[in-house]
Amino acid sequence: MSHPTLYPVPTAAAKRSHLTNEQYEQMYQQSITAPEQFWAEHGKRIDWFKPYTEVKNTSYEPGKVNIEWFKDGILNASYNCLDRHLPQRADQVAYYWEGDSPDVSKSITYGELHQQVCQLANAMKQLGVAKGDRVTIYLPMIIEATVALLACARIGAVHSVVFAGFSPDALGSRVFDCDSKLIITADQALRGSRVTSLKQNVDIAIDHLAEKSPVQNVIVVKHVGQNLAMQAGRDLWYHELIAQQSTDCPAEPMQAEDPLFILYTSGSTGTPKGVLHTTGGYMVYAAMTHQYVFDYHDKDVYWCAADVGWVTGHTYIIYGPLANGATSVLFEGVPNYPSVKRMAQIVDKYHVNILYTAPTAIRALMAHGTAPTDGADLSSLRTLGSVGEPINPEAWNWYHHNFGKDNCPIVDTWWQTETGGILISPLPGCTDLKPGSATRPFFGIIPAIVDNEGNEVQGVGEGNLIIKSSWPGQMRTVYGDHARFEQTYFGTYPGSYFTGDGVKRDADGYYWITGRVDDVLNISGHRLGTAEIESCLVAHDSVAEAAVVGFTHDIKGQGIYVYVTPRVGVEPSDELTKELRAWVRTEISPIATPDLIQWAPTGLPKTRSGKIMRRILRKIAANEHDQLGDISTLADPSVVEVLINNRLNRK
Ligand code: PRX
Repeated sequence: MSHPTLYPVPTAAAKRSHLTNEQYEQMYQQSITAPEQFWAEHGKRIDWFKPYTEVKNTSYEPGKVNIEWFKDGILNASYNCLDRHLPQRADQVAYYWEGDSPDVSKSITYGELHQQVCQLANAMKQLGVAKGDRVTIYLPMIIEATVALLACARIGAVHSVVFAGFSPDALGSRVFDCDSKLIITADQALRGSRVTSLKQNVDIAIDHLAEKSPVQNVIVVKHVGQNLAMQAGRDLWYHELIAQQSTDCPAEPMQAEDPLFILYTSGSTGTPKGVLHTTGGYMVYAAMTHQYVFDYHDKDVYWCAADVGWVTGHTYIIYGPLANGATSVLFEGVPNYPSVKRMAQIVDKYHVNILYTAPTAIRALMAHGTAPTDGADLSSLRTLGSVGEPINPEAWNWYHHNFGKDNCPIVDTWWQTETGGILISPLPGCTDLKPGSATRPFFGIIPAIVDNEGNEVQGVGEGNLIIKSSWPGQMRTVYGDHARFEQTYFGTYPGSYFTGDGVKRDADGYYWITGRVDDVLNISGHRLGTAEIESCLVAHDSVAEAAVVGFTHDIKGQGIYVYVTPRVGVEPSDELTKELRAWVRTEISPIATPDLIQWAPTGLPKTRSGKIMRRILRKIAANEHDQLGDISTLADPSVVEVLINNRLNRK
């Protein structure tokens, strides 16, 4: 099916929008020509106990990388998310919580959330947690997770959230790295009816750390009701602990550059890095991007379907929406349980206006045709969002048509754990959309494209994405390793922040993220984005999902190895393989023709956040499946064995 390549701003979206396109352009110009004045003004969207007088003190100079925003301002993130709203919003719902099972739900108001946060904050203080101490949070998507983050922020403790799908050892290494004295967890987590025993994982993690364990206490939320072995003196039930606490806990005055959180993320090398974000700049950037990128208005119902274990959950489930006084949906489960209609049902149940999810979820639903939205109303939806990976035009169009009924703008938001908030994205009421493009930079962001030698590409072109300016939400350092921070992000193209992503810029100045540059293939001297080939494959009727990696090829340098998950009901065959090769050949170019196509009906190896682990696919394609490294972070490690057994590139 052919689709338009340009979608103008719908009239209704333009009418409602906080900004016109002209205003966006004016503000953008101001933000990059006079950043001090721009941010001095916009920093005021946050409440400061003591206003800042300094705005920006940043250097990307090799050896002297230093990033400080609003440095002499004093504030508290939890105060900004809660206390300042209480006069008008004490009875407004902060979160509608929707359980894994559709039969279980509840809600919490700003007033109630404030009370619970104060109680947990007081309990933590009593346990000896002080300003600057690290606390690890290992919780499912339940209200107590939001309470835990905000309670840390309230007393100035630095939270380190570890995704509840991570294994005990992954948890343990993160606890050890930042020396957490407290872990907040739950008995069990539920996702798509699958049960994970979190508290048991915590016990194993601490056991494995043995005398290296810094953990003094474990607070346990009774969520599912599992019988647990509680270790006397160490383990405490959340409900018992907070029941004794006062609902009043003054918010700790924090310097703008005091750490707010650490979040571990994988790089292309080494162990996960502890990405450190601080308080003032992060809060300003989170609140501002949340308002403009989603064109959020008071009384909107907003649903970010990410997990609080990832940065998207931090910025766009917790800090951004709460800073703006939003009502959000907090969803425990997965989009296809108990059926593929779940997402649409939740939208209808809460009359969601803004839905923010990931291409992987969209593709999973798209494999079922129109079933995920058949019979749903969805008329409350106004803005759709996408994050986490390039969204192929086919999935974009499916989302636009089936969820958006062809009149909701899709904001394809490009950003990273490191960036704290969205850097490149359309604004719903301002930006004409092109499916697959993250379009234009947010205020204060100066993207640039460089070739591998660091020469800047002007105008239309392609290369490595760097950011030349600093912005308030930027990470400040790698926890405990500033040298690694400098080297990873500022070492490749000195003087700029290197994103690790490839990008194209078109004649309209729109940016198209092509994927991590480590995934770019070089076929007979021609550069090809794996995302481009994948996007083409997914546009084929038989394909639900595809992943492309390079492998060493005697003649071409690199060959193209493709893994394909067929759509439900499609039977892989030699004919279909041939058809797919011909499809890519004609859709992109003969250069892009896959050399090997391996069917992966049981799926692709993914992290629990839904990212395909290409490292593993590259190893299998290289016939080096005995060197897979750590696969413990996979959502379902068993798919790897199937892929190895059916691999094509045997030597
Ligand atoms: O490659 C880009 C991809 O995800 C990477 C960042 O991953 P993470 O730190 O886990 O954060 C994900 C959520 C912000 C980026 O380097 N990425 C993220 N969003 C997009 C994207 N690629 C293309 N388009 C996007 N909208």
